[in-house]
Amino acid sequence: MKVSIIGGGGLVGSCAGFALQAGKIVREIALVDVNQDLCEGQALDLLHGASLLSDQKITANGTEAVKDSDVIVITAGLRRKPDESRLDLINRNVTLFRSILADMKQHGFRKDAIVFVVSNPVDVLTYLAIKELGLPPCQVIGLGTVLDTTRLRSMLAQRLDVPPTQVQVTIFGEHGDSMVPIWSNAQIAGLPLEKFPGVTSNLIAEVEKKTRGSGAEVIKKKGGAGFAVGVSIADVVHAIALDQKRILPVSALQSGAYGLRDVAISVPTIVGRKGVEGLIEIDLWPKEKIALQKSGQVLRETIEKVL
Ligand code: 2OP
Repeated sequence: MKVSIIGGGGLVGSCAGFALQAGKIVREIALVDVNQDLCEGQALDLLHGASLLSDQKITANGTEAVKDSDVIVITAGLRRKPDESRLDLINRNVTLFRSILADMKQHGFRKDAIVFVVSNPVDVLTYLAIKELGLPPCQVIGLGTVLDTTRLRSMLAQRLDVPPTQVQVTIFGEHGDSMVPIWSNAQIAGLPLEKFPGVTSNLIAEVEKKTRGSGAEVIKKKGGAGFAVGVSIADVVHAIALDQKRILPVSALQSGAYGLRDVAISVPTIVGRKGVEGLIEIDLWPKEKIALQKSGQVLRETIEKVL
């Protein structure tokens, strides 16, 4: 499988490239960036480690690389400032994003290509890509709250001193201020979270607050996320590449589940080689359902304002 990463010269794109290289599943990683030197430098740095990792083709390219790609990851875009919300970015990034979509359409892409949006505000830009690319909506997905979900699981595990891979809690909604952690179904090693030793409502509130602020905290400390967003991207790409039908909180166009309609937003979604292959609708606490619908409303209002 060939994966191209538009914005592959940048922090997010290059970390995604490294996560895909270390994952050893895709056969070709094509970095694409307007900054050709930076793009070539990232590809060269990845290539240098190939003999210790995997027999993949790793290249630096112009946008023409998308035309035979199975998955096209779009990470290009301006980063927000620590005190900015992701939605604040919208006016600056929509123009750039529209030019990327136009460039992609000019070169053309496979009719079964999956377009995977990471650029922020990811839910709004995913919706824009769905509307402008002319691909079936199921073939256009956004990273959504996959990154928020791994942040929450990892930080909760650290607080409780349990293995992060055994923490099961998922975040639905906007990848942004209105995200909705679904505590009603949280578990550790299959055991109900609320009964787990050491868990208190204060601890949950504290970890939730830290998760909401994680993006801004990482931007403030190191300029922006790289490693965690890179592995989050790779996790979704691998579900596509291996046709795993895994249930992931990617951002996808909604048509009624949880009362959400005509908006790209994260709910538990079955992800395989065809992209969105279904979704899971479960009972939520009333306050969770209300928060999720509010999150959808926030995104709808932004879409109506800028698109
Ligand atoms: C973050 O939360 C990049 O939006 C991403 O770090």
